[in-house]
Amino acid sequence: MFLTKVGAYNTASLKGKSNDGKLKFRFIKQIIMQRHELKNADIYSGYNLIGNCSTFSWKCQSETGLPCHFSIAGLNCEYDMEALLVRKDIYLRAGEKEYIAKNFQIEGVSDLVTGTAQSIELLFEKFPEMKSMTDGEKVVISKETQSETLKALTGIIEAIKFSKSFELLDIKEAAKKIVSDIQESEGAILNLMELRSFSGYHLTHNYNVGILSAYIGSALKLHEKALLEVTIGALLHDMGKLKIADTIISKDSKLSDEEFEEMKQHPRYGYEIFKDNPDIPAASKTLILQHHEKYDGSGYPESLKDIEISLYAQICSLADVFDALTSERPYRVAKTPYEAVRILNSMVNTAFSPEVLQAFIRKTSLYPPGSLVRLNDDSIALILRNNQTSLIRPEIKLIADKAGRRIKERKIFDLAKENKLYIKSYAVPSDLNVTIR
Ligand SMILES: [Fe+2]
Repeated sequence: MFLTKVGAYNTASLKGKSNDGKLKFRFIKQIIMQRHELKNADIYSGYNLIGNCSTFSWKCQSETGLPCHFSIAGLNCEYDMEALLVRKDIYLRAGEKEYIAKNFQIEGVSDLVTGTAQSIELLFEKFPEMKSMTDGEKVVISKETQSETLKALTGIIEAIKFSKSFELLDIKEAAKKIVSDIQESEGAILNLMELRSFSGYHLTHNYNVGILSAYIGSALKLHEKALLEVTIGALLHDMGKLKIADTIISKDSKLSDEEFEEMKQHPRYGYEIFKDNPDIPAASKTLILQHHEKYDGSGYPESLKDIEISLYAQICSLADVFDALTSERPYRVAKTPYEAVRILNSMVNTAFSPEVLQAFIRKTSLYPPGSLVRLNDDSIALILRNNQTSLIRPEIKLIADKAGRRIKERKIFDLAKENKLYIKSYAVPSDLNVTIR
């Protein structure tokens, strides 16, 4: 990416003197027009990967409130161009950088596609905590596995939405990579989809639940074939929602009784989609059908209880609730991983079996990786990974001092080896007022 200033000029220059003749204030405001360019960018809608382009360039005038103008060269839409024509937020990913283009609107299509956006900003500047979770750290799921899984899921979502035929080879390959990444990643950070709060919930939720289920399955010491079956089922667990009307799926208020009854059919719809497909293991199909059953029999669609529910479905159900709690939804702010684990804990013996919940908590500990905590000196730290020897002494990275100022040289501490530092409480990102730079 490059960035050039193509114009810089004053809009206001104001000087004044007070009665005693001293200089009172001087204010110069500048409008700076900046040109940016991304090479080989992937383009995501709020729902899925739309395609890619060779060059995405744009100009924005700071502080004017006027829209940014963009042009796209070498646009290659894998599925439908229509997804780009609807005015909404679009996400761009090039190399390690991710951007959000708000109110993306196409105005012309010739050699170049041109249009406007209300603003185009780096995602990581808006949500630094989310990004800092994986920057420079050893992570569980490699970028390659992440992008192959998202691509495979996107293909299946598109096919189901438009009632086209699909193959599951890519999903099975992705599941193999997820399982192998998890088996090789002792002590690494569990990196769920970084766009999850901002991009399409359906895609990222299926992805996250797939990863989390494999992670819980590995904590339960399932053998490789079982881990694959769990992962395949969990990656596809919510596809039945694609058969439910958008008005119900994206409703941002409480569903009516009738709407909720229809929503409760999605495990059955999902099962119907895959039931005759010989490429999916039978156990994965059962997981899809049973992922909303609850340990005490209060779930749906069949009100199964305890061991009537397959172990794989119990794993997926826990991953499903954890991901839903920690994701931003139109009607609810995201919980921190720490809060989510506390809520899960309160649901033992009602929603979840103690064995499955304990395996998950053992693996994530009191402070799941990615949580923010306040230390005894009031500084803020990010949990990197847990210590096998001490649940309350994880490895941390300092991110802000006690005044909330972001620490540039981020120091990493192994609390098991520090006797003066300890965790005082967990911290909520929105309460911290941590500055970006
Ligand atoms: Fe579901």
